[in-house]
Amino acid sequence: MDLSTSMRTHMCGLVSPADVGSVVSVCGWVDRRREHGEHLVFIDLRDHTGVVQCVVGQNHDLRSEYVVQMTGEVRERPAGTANPELASGEIEIEVREVEVLSAAEPPPFPLDERTEVDETIRLRHRYVDLRKARLQRNLRIRARVNSAIRRGMESQGFIEVETPMLVASTPEGARDFVVPSRKEPGSFYALPQSPQLFKQLCMVGGVDRYYQIARCLRDEDLRADRQFEFMQLDAEASFVGQQDVFEFISAAVAEATEAVTGVRPREFPRISWIDAMERYGSDKPDVRFGMELVELTEIFAGTEARVFQAPCVKGICMPGGTEALSRNQVDSLVETCRRWGAKGLAWMKVAQRDSSAVLDAGVAKFLSAEESAAVISALGASAGDMVFLVADERRLVRHVLGLLRLELGRPPVNEGGLHYLWVVDFPLFEGFAADGSPLPAHHPFTMPHLDDLDLLGEGGEALLGVRSQAYDLVLNGWELGSGSVRIHRRDIQNQVFACLGIEPAEAQRKFGFLLDAFGYGAPPHAGFAFGIDRLTALLAGESNIREVIAFPKTQSGADPLTNAPSPIDGAHLRELGLRAPR
Ligand code: AMO
Ligand code: AMP
Repeated sequence: MDLSTSMRTHMCGLVSPADVGSVVSVCGWVDRRREHGEHLVFIDLRDHTGVVQCVVGQNHDLRSEYVVQMTGEVRERPAGTANPELASGEIEIEVREVEVLSAAEPPPFPLDERTEVDETIRLRHRYVDLRKARLQRNLRIRARVNSAIRRGMESQGFIEVETPMLVASTPEGARDFVVPSRKEPGSFYALPQSPQLFKQLCMVGGVDRYYQIARCLRDEDLRADRQFEFMQLDAEASFVGQQDVFEFISAAVAEATEAVTGVRPREFPRISWIDAMERYGSDKPDVRFGMELVELTEIFAGTEARVFQAPCVKGICMPGGTEALSRNQVDSLVETCRRWGAKGLAWMKVAQRDSSAVLDAGVAKFLSAEESAAVISALGASAGDMVFLVADERRLVRHVLGLLRLELGRPPVNEGGLHYLWVVDFPLFEGFAADGSPLPAHHPFTMPHLDDLDLLGEGGEALLGVRSQAYDLVLNGWELGSGSVRIHRRDIQNQVFACLGIEPAEAQRKFGFLLDAFGYGAPPHAGFAFGIDRLTALLAGESNIREVIAFPKTQSGADPLTNAPSPIDGAHLRELGLRAPR
């Protein structure tokens, strides 16, 4: 694309040997300055496309990060001085005219990729940080992702509908950010945790296929994959089932992936929630590597070894673990598993004796010969491997071994390719709260599996067996998105509310507008949302989403650039009917 303007003919990084002999103008920031005597100064001038070497004869006052325009003739670099690492490395500009467009303070930190800079300092001067090649690249990847998503959704007949930011509370399960009302002191708007209820209302309103690149706000603890505000591709469609949603969303994700990597991913495989939990100990399995959890309960059914007398025993095998792990590391893994809730972690080395593999060291002495042989065979272990076993309640075993598997085997974020995976058949409830009411695994508008409606009626422990028509999309161990077929029938909705211990009056108060809407002719509908920050981070090979967000918050939720959050003055508080805490 031609990016020339009235001030420049070329982008810095794009001046090439083809331009030798012509006079060009470039604009940008002074990246580096090298002096070879008073009348020979080399300036690397930078814009988002890269740098170009400019040879300046006179001594101008040109310091780091000054913004300048340079005009001159392009020439080949003298033999032996070409820089093969730069696109513009074979040429330089013999500068005839220099114009300083802006002087600059010395930058608060070096702009190279090597220097580690404190997060707060980076974010306080984000406008300088953004000039780095890495962030320029990430922002441009993000823009490609957004436009590919739009293309992907619109080519399937989805239309973008904008939903409000000042709303009533949305049921996504995080804390709301609230905005005080001046006209009604003591009342508050909530900022949307997602457009969930509005997109369902769009379906009742006949929109048929809705999408939005939507800003969502959730007051929750921040992590590498979480910010207070983030972007979703949010979608909903009418007269569809789960399979239709998989096709819509896969197409948009494939379009975005191709736009960044040049390669369109193949059809995304599926795994049931229960298989994911049993084989990977996680509902967001990272399938870039093996080391699956292996069921060993049967092997230890009549065991003499006290450690393994438990409702569930599972193990994982780490190839080459005997060499890779020191005794100290193993001891600290045991401690780590205790912190995750296990009673302990049983480990054994796999050694070679005669021509067969045997278990050695650790708890090996507690196992009978048959148990040893069965464990080796079930785990597919061979000499040099290390095996780890946990015995306990099933949920705990899965949880601890799932984390241990990641700890021992997870590749770096930018290795092992992109492994998309649909996780299907989530349970409707994921456990019980202290007061005995079941906890919904997704939001309460998720349609149960129609085959499991009887179980829903039974209540009690049976509820944990109710599957839902909810699904997640997982990429390399990150939850990319979630969705479900929604309940559009009042009778089922009331049944689910009843199970959740939500009284009709409370349901009416919280979601009355949606329930009322369903009384006026609701089409069957289903939808999905995925996190654009997360998708972009993984496509860019970044392990923290703040590297793909122009102006993120720090880990503690502050913005050191604008100083948000900050106090407001007394008069403003009074107008809003608020009092500052002392
Ligand atoms: P859910 O709450 O699972 O579903 O959110 C969907 C996706 O949004 C992203 N996400 C986040 N990204 C960054 N920071 C956060 N704090 C954050 N929270 C969530 C994740 C997540 O998978 N309304 C439903 C979707 C539906 O049922 O259609 C919803 O919001 O990638
Ligand atoms: P103990 O008999 O408690 O000293 O444990 C012997 C070994 O078994 C130690 O390495 C413990 O970490 C391990 N261990 C104890 N309880 C369990 C368990 N429930 N599952 C797996 N390993 C365990």
